[in-house]
Amino acid sequence: MVRLLGEGTFGTVLLVRERATGSLFAVKVMRKTQLVESGQLTAVTTERAVLRDAGPHPFVVRCESGFHTPDAVVLVLEYVSGGDFFDLMKAHGTLDEAAVVFYLSELVLAVGELHRHSFVCRDLKLENILVDAAGHLRLTDFGLAGRVASAEATDTSVTDLSGTAIYQAPEMLTGKGHGLPVDWWALGVLTYVMLAGRPPFSSEGGRSALHDRIRGAPLDLDGDPRTADWAAPTKDLVRRLLERDVTRRLGAGPADAEDVKAHPFFKGVDWDAVLAMRKEWVE
Ligand code: ADE
Repeated sequence: MVRLLGEGTFGTVLLVRERATGSLFAVKVMRKTQLVESGQLTAVTTERAVLRDAGPHPFVVRCESGFHTPDAVVLVLEYVSGGDFFDLMKAHGTLDEAAVVFYLSELVLAVGELHRHSFVCRDLKLENILVDAAGHLRLTDFGLAGRVASAEATDTSVTDLSGTAIYQAPEMLTGKGHGLPVDWWALGVLTYVMLAGRPPFSSEGGRSALHDRIRGAPLDLDGDPRTADWAAPTKDLVRRLLERDVTRRLGAGPADAEDVKAHPFFKGVDWDAVLAMRKEWVE
């Protein structure tokens, strides 16, 4: 073991060096007693299934192997050395639109891949986006992911409330069920956070105040000095992703990520080139 990398939703992530090769890996260790006590055994199986089925993908963290010992379930992940997006945002404050187009392009492909395998991520946030040595992204931590019964975007088979408060879509707050589009809402929150340096719905006043804002506070991009200068396609993208009516939300149709990719915000993005930048990795 080299050092502690962090605490995931249900376990500890360690940086380890393989003796035989000197290669570095991120090892996620989840104690069985803790998993059973918190009723989270299925979370591990789902996480493993996401990593196996949605990978290998250029923008999803690669799982090298998985095993269990009498005490723990262990996932051996590729080590992504550039830190996470939370720290990156802390260092930069805000990002310019060109940088956000670059990062969101990679994220849209990663989320689309999960959705193609009928997984809803449900925990898209800065902390779960890692940056590699070359500056490319890797989505990680699928402890809260869920499998929807079908790839139908409006499927509502997932009903438990989960995810990180500021990224939660309004339909997650009702407990009536939610599907793949919650990830597109979270992408809208992320876009806003990257550009403005703060979330679209403030958590000031506690959780219930935040929930009220998520459910009903107007999104005033033109009137807010931090967002007023955004380009028109940027404002439109954020408005279309932070659409409370699930059926009208960008990405909620059967084409899923393809509809997001076709938005004018991504005009000029060569999607094949975005994938090809990390292509050597999948081959
Ligand atoms: N933190 C959590 N998972 C990680 C990984 N795969 N690489 C680096 N840091 C991490």
